[in-house]
Amino acid sequence: MFDTLVRGGTVVNAFGQTRADVAIEDGCVVGVGTHYSDDDAREVIDAGGLLVLPGLVDPHVHFDMPFMGTVTRHSFFTGSVAAAAGGVTTFIDFAFQEKGRPAMEAIEARMEEAKGQPTVDYGFHAIFTDVRPGVGQELRQLVSAGIASWKVFMAYRSLGIMVDDGGLLTLLNASRDLPCVGIVHAENAALIEYMVAQFLDDDKRSARYHALSRPPLAEAEAVARAARLAGQTDAPLYFFHVSSAAAVAEIQKAQGQGWPVYAETCPHYLMLDETIYDQDDGYNWCMSPPLRTEADRDALWQALASGALGSISSDDGAFDAESKAQGRDSFDLVPNGVPGVETRLSLLFSEGVHKERITVERLVALCSTNPARLFGLYPRKGLIAPGSDADLVLVDPQVERTLGLEGSYMKAGWHPFEGWRVRGAPVLTMLRGRVIMKEDEFCGEAGLGHFVERRFDGRLRRRAVL
Ligand code: URP
Ligand code: ZN
Repeated sequence: MFDTLVRGGTVVNAFGQTRADVAIEDGCVVGVGTHYSDDDAREVIDAGGLLVLPGLVDPHVHFDMPFMGTVTRHSFFTGSVAAAAGGVTTFIDFAFQEKGRPAMEAIEARMEEAKGQPTVDYGFHAIFTDVRPGVGQELRQLVSAGIASWKVFMAYRSLGIMVDDGGLLTLLNASRDLPCVGIVHAENAALIEYMVAQFLDDDKRSARYHALSRPPLAEAEAVARAARLAGQTDAPLYFFHVSSAAAVAEIQKAQGQGWPVYAETCPHYLMLDETIYDQDDGYNWCMSPPLRTEADRDALWQALASGALGSISSDDGAFDAESKAQGRDSFDLVPNGVPGVETRLSLLFSEGVHKERITVERLVALCSTNPARLFGLYPRKGLIAPGSDADLVLVDPQVERTLGLEGSYMKAGWHPFEGWRVRGAPVLTMLRGRVIMKEDEFCGEAGLGHFVERRFDGRLRRRAVL
C-alpha cells in the first residue's frame, strides 16, 4: 500500500512525457507506470487532464536581503509560500561573506535565520566579497557542508560587494578540482560607474537612464572576460540573469570553445522591454542588468531553445513600493530587483509553451532539471523517477488567470506583471509527498522545508549539454 497515488496525469520530465500514475511512499517517488489501481494507495490524487512536472527549482532568489539601504520584503517563510504557489519546491538563496570573515560564518548565520521558516526545501550559495589567501580551504569547507556553489559580483563596487578579476581568477583556480560551481553577476563596473556619473552630472535621473547607464556592452564585456577566465582555468562558471543578445553571443562563443560555461535568464527579460522605463512608475522595474529591447528578447528565446541558455531563475528581489520609490527622482537610488518567485511557471507556460517558443519538456529542463543538475541537487530534485523526492507540481495547461497583487502570495505591494493574462498555471504543489498548495490555497506550514545539502558526483568541468 503506497501513501499516495497521483493518477491519470501526463508525467513530464525533461527527456519526454508519458501518461502515467506516480506512486509515492515516505516522501519519495517509488514508481511511475500505468499498472496501478485506486486500491493501491491510502490517498489518491486525480491528475486527469493535468500535467505532472517535477517541482521547480529556483536557483536565484533574494529573501530577506539587505540591499541599497533597504531590505527585500519576502521572508524565508512568505517567500517560500509564494514559491509554493508558483510550483517551486526548492529555492537557493545567498549568504554574503562579511569582509575579513570566513564565508562559512555567513552561511551559518543564514541557516540560523532560515531555521523553521521555509515551507519548501532550500539551499544557499556562498557570496564572496573578499577573496583572501587560503580561499581553497574555505571552498573545501563549504563543499563538505553541502554548499556546492559560490558567487561573486563583478559590479556594485560602491556597495563594497564587488570582487575584481584577480579575486575571480583566484576562486576559479581554487575550485577547479573541487565538486563545486562558480557564479557571476557579470557587468563591467568601471563602465557603469563612468556612465552613471555622467548622467547624474547632466541631471539625467529618470529610470530610462538606469538602462542607458548599464548598456549591453557593459554586460557582454564582463561575460566575455569571466568566460575567458573559466576557459583558462577549466573551472565551471554559471552566469546569472543574462539579458542581452550581445551577452548571449559571448556565451555562445565561449561554449563553442568548449569552455565550461553555463547561463540563465529570467522571465522579466523574456516578457518585458526597456520602454517600461518611460512610464511614471518605470523606476519599479529597475533591476541589473536592466530590461532590453525586443530584439534582445528574441535572442534570449532562441538561446533557450538552442541550449546556449540552460536555465531560468526568478531573481526574486521583492523590494516594496516604498523602497522602490526611494529612487523615484534619481535612478541610482532605486534598489535593484523585482518580485517573481511565484510567476515563473505560469508566465513561461503562457508565453513560452502556448506560443510554441519552447516545449513543455524544455520548460521542465529550464526551470527544474537543469538548475538541479547545475547546482548539485539532481537526481533527488528535477526528476520524476523512482528514488527522487516526491516534489511535484500539477499544471492545468488551459486554466486562465490574471496576474496581479490580488490573489498573489508575493508581498511587495506592487506586481511587475499586474493585469497580465496567462494560460496554464500550477493547481497543486507537493513537497516530498505532502500537498502544500492546492487550488491557490496554501496548506503547508512554516518549517516543512529542509536545508538540502548540494553535492556533485563528479565535476561540471566538461561542458554538459543542457
Ligand atoms: O537587480 C537585481 N538583479 N537585483 C538583485 C541583486 C542581483 O544583482 O542579483
Ligand atoms: Zn545579480
